Amino acid sequence: MLAVIGGSGLGSLRGEVRALESETIEAVRTPYGGPVQVDLCRMKDVRIAFLPRHAAGDRIPAHKVNYRANLWALQSLGVDRIIATNTVGGISEDLPPGAMAIPKQLIDYTWGRENSFFDGADQAPRHIDFTRPYDEPLRQALRDAAAKVGKQIKFGGVYGVLQGPRLETAAEILRLRRDGCDMVGMTSMPEAVLARELQVRYACLALSVNWAAGLGEGLIEMADIKRVHGFGTVELIGIVEALVESEAGGI
Ligand code: HPA
Repeated sequence: MLAVIGGSGLGSLRGEVRALESETIEAVRTPYGGPVQVDLCRMKDVRIAFLPRHAAGDRIPAHKVNYRANLWALQSLGVDRIIATNTVGGISEDLPPGAMAIPKQLIDYTWGRENSFFDGADQAPRHIDFTRPYDEPLRQALRDAAAKVGKQIKFGGVYGVLQGPRLETAAEILRLRRDGCDMVGMTSMPEAVLARELQVRYACLALSVNWAAGLGEGLIEMADIKRVHGFGTVELIGIVEALVESEAGGI
């Protein structure tokens, strides 16, 4: 089953997606806590599990999300591939507010998050390969879906994952740029690596909602971010819908 993890501003697919039938909301208990609320839906005969990363109303900040419980819950429901939507700040010139990307790589700057199932407590330590953090066929399916709805999208780029919850200083963004980051956000890790540990395919659809600190005019204003969220989320959902439609067509 396909899962969609909704980023901030995308708390539910109900009411947002044409032809979506919501079947039930599962409250999944996990060895890592919970319950995790997962909305099981059906669209054009394709089953989708929807999980709002920050819970209803964006209550849980990125550094407090229980990523292990979320990933475990999805897999226990039979999820084998995940499209994660994430809001980011744009660093490279082709990611102004409103632009989208399907990143190819990431750099993890987070700290103190539970970032492995193989941490020696429940399961013996293991060092998995993470050379390519995002699943290539899923990335390509996302690119095709974006093309189908006529959305220009950056196919590639490096996602710098920061701890938050504060935004960055201008100097931190210059350092990220020197490191090769094209976008900055707070949620792709440890989500991506936990999916890999569970052998669940995972790709990211990122929406730039602001220029990263120091790159736009003036300071970063929440009101501006919210405005971009508004129309950006509609476009994100359109791409997910197109992806599901091609799955319904047997792709
Ligand atoms: N920095 C970090 N995370 C973000 C940003 C940002 O500028 N915008 C949206 N998520």
